[in-house]
Amino acid sequence: MFHTRVIVAKNPEQVGKFTADKFEEEIQRKPSCVIGLATGSTPLPLYRELIAREKAGLIDFSKVRSANLDEYKGLAPTHEQSYRKFMQDNLLDHISIKPENTIVPLGLAEDVDAMCKAYEEKIEEWGGVDLQLLGIGHDGHIGFNEPDDNFPTMTHEVKLTEMTINANKRFFNSVDEVPKAAFTMGIGTIMSAKKIVMMVTGADKKEILKKTFWGPVDPKVPASILQFHPDVTLICDEDAYPF
Ligand code: F6R
Repeated sequence: MFHTRVIVAKNPEQVGKFTADKFEEEIQRKPSCVIGLATGSTPLPLYRELIAREKAGLIDFSKVRSANLDEYKGLAPTHEQSYRKFMQDNLLDHISIKPENTIVPLGLAEDVDAMCKAYEEKIEEWGGVDLQLLGIGHDGHIGFNEPDDNFPTMTHEVKLTEMTINANKRFFNSVDEVPKAAFTMGIGTIMSAKKIVMMVTGADKKEILKKTFWGPVDPKVPASILQFHPDVTLICDEDAYPF
């Protein structure tokens, strides 16, 4: 562990509140900041808190831009299980962010290379991600960057591992309906963010959390690359904290 700051919260709700503090601070510092967003169960307390804070007049999202980490290949933005729909339902529809200021990789892209390139260019045109939110998979994935022999760099298509397909099947009628591929920001895209905040909750994440920040940097644990980022804050609950 090199630069990572660690905050241990009591429970997932408090992890959400502490992470919301980081976002509030960033938006106050730069009202038009670019935030990188994630889906999954872990950020839900954060998103509830952000919605509440805007309603209470503490945050103003009207100038903020957002870029999501990933999307399933082949799902339309309106598909119940698409990450775009998840973001609309759990955050974007409830805050003042402008629709044109939110991007999620396009699941239905026909020309995958062109879509991935345009995604990178849009983030660059916005001046890069100021604060990137991350969760972590049980195999150490961030975004959909799965364990590999190297660290993939920019936004690209990935084949999902059996572990990730099984972890995500709870949201679909059957495992056959879970998409087998996805589009994701690369490790390079994520590492280019100026600041990163990772939320981790639950005892089932303890082992991978230990490997990530207290083990060797290894592409077999993709999140371990975060040890090389100069500004990472890890916010975990007591159940996930490995010590
Ligand atoms: C989601 C994403 C994934 C999740 C990870 C953990 O956009 O990028 O890497 O952060 O799979 O998911 P949860 O929070 O559901 O345990």
